Amino acid sequence: MNIYSKLLAVVTVATFSSLLFLPSVYGSDDDGHKWGLGWFKQSKLDVAPVNNPVYREECGSCHFAFQPGLLPEKSWRKMMAGLEDHFGDNAELDAEKQKSLLDYLVTNSADKSDYKRSTRIASSLKPGEVPLRISDTVYFKRKHDEIPMRFVTDNKDVGSYSKCEACHTRAETGSYNEDEVKIPGVGRWED
Ligand code: HEC
Ligand code: HEC
Repeated sequence: MNIYSKLLAVVTVATFSSLLFLPSVYGSDDDGHKWGLGWFKQSKLDVAPVNNPVYREECGSCHFAFQPGLLPEKSWRKMMAGLEDHFGDNAELDAEKQKSLLDYLVTNSADKSDYKRSTRIASSLKPGEVPLRISDTVYFKRKHDEIPMRFVTDNKDVGSYSKCEACHTRAETGSYNEDEVKIPGVGRWED
């Protein structure tokens, strides 16, 4: 190798490594979040899909089985401690199921998950804030504040923001991408 090709090799390596390093220094996405090297590790999916059959059965009988990664640990603990009055319904479980489902929720909660939406939901909350509804989190509100009420509460096919699966066609799989939204009676969502 002569001196020029050595020099070229050094420059090439330096350029590529700075390119790799750039995002961790300057990166930021549409939500104004910085993305460091952790960004590369983030999963493509928005939240981890439900993979616990008991959870799906017990917590998916009255409504969509919300993924554990949609609320932080503190919220799940508070909710699971008051199932006898769960938004006006009795959703009590026997002690054994109550414990195993609490474990499942906590292990996969928003603050323990590295899935994209989970980390954002968790980091949007102030310390001490313990929302019992996903739809009460700052991140959720910010994402849904442009949707007129006639598409939601006054829409007979939706009725409430709790019905994620009414609008998010792939909610079941843990995917909440805005390109997959189809509001009943309204159609595709164009931002
Ligand atoms: C007996 C019926 C019933 C069962 C069983 C039930 N829920 Fe609910 N849940 C409700 C009702 C009713 C609401 C309020 C829905 C609304 O306001 O539209 C609700 C709301 C919720 C919400 C808030 C959704 C939002 O708006 O962000 C979460 C989270 C939730 N339930 C989790 C659970 C979990 C976890 C379990 C299992 C331990 C469970 N639910 C079992 C009836 C039930
Ligand atoms: C009435 C229909 C409707 C319901 C119900 C609804 N969403 Fe959405 N959601 C939307 C629309 C529309 C957008 C895109 C908003 C925008 O970007 O302007 C969105 C965006 C999102 C995003 C951000 C997606 C992105 O690509 O930026 C997430 C995450 C999300 N919703 C989660 C949920 C969850 C979880 C629930 C249930 C607790 C829910 N949504 C209930 C309509 C709905």
